Amino acid sequence: MKRVFILSSSPRKNGNSQRLCEQFKAGAESVGHLVTLVRLAEKKLGFCRACDACMRNGGTCVLKDDMQELLVQFQAADVLVLATPVYFYGVSAQMKTFIDRTYPIWQHLGSKEVYYIVSAGLGRDVIRRSLGDLDGFVEHLEHYEMRGRLYADNVMEAGMVCSLPVLEEAYRMGTEV
Ligand SMILES: Cc1cc2nc3c(=O)[nH]c(=O)nc-3n(C[C@H](O)[C@H](O)[C@H](O)COP(=O)(O)O)c2cc1C
Repeated sequence: MKRVFILSSSPRKNGNSQRLCEQFKAGAESVGHLVTLVRLAEKKLGFCRACDACMRNGGTCVLKDDMQELLVQFQAADVLVLATPVYFYGVSAQMKTFIDRTYPIWQHLGSKEVYYIVSAGLGRDVIRRSLGDLDGFVEHLEHYEMRGRLYADNVMEAGMVCSLPVLEEAYRMGTEV
């Protein structure tokens, strides 16, 4: 049994990446893994202030919000799923805010098996150009194994993935954790 932590960062409740996260979760649970799926848009998460207090005080952020709880879940996870829509050739603001807020523990990000789930209105080439923030974060883990990248391209409207094979791929990927 692995602990799987899925960070879903679209602000759309029924968005494409969220639907794929739900399928991934169902797949992983079907084979006995313990899965936590978090919608970042529902969390209270302030921006990193770059005050560096956490660098001086042993890793405690001055902001008191939901990030403390998220960091505990993050650190406990064996498997990390980072899910984002493409916004202006980058990740969502919610995902970037989460990434920046891991700064207090950036030297202790641990070891994870990693998956990406990415949705975009345009093509696959656009998705490939938009992964810099995710790759940069993952490269800061102490150790990682990139296990899967699931791309839903050409899905502009929320829920479009529901009629596409990528939905089933998400479930299957979950079963293969
Ligand atoms: C602010 C904003 C910026 C976007 N920028 C891009 C973009 O640069 N390239 C692209 O292919 N799609 C872009 N899109 C479209 C979304 O990627 C697309 O609707 C995707 O399905 C959203 O995923 P979600 O349903 O998981 O939220 C943008 C959408 C928004 C709201």
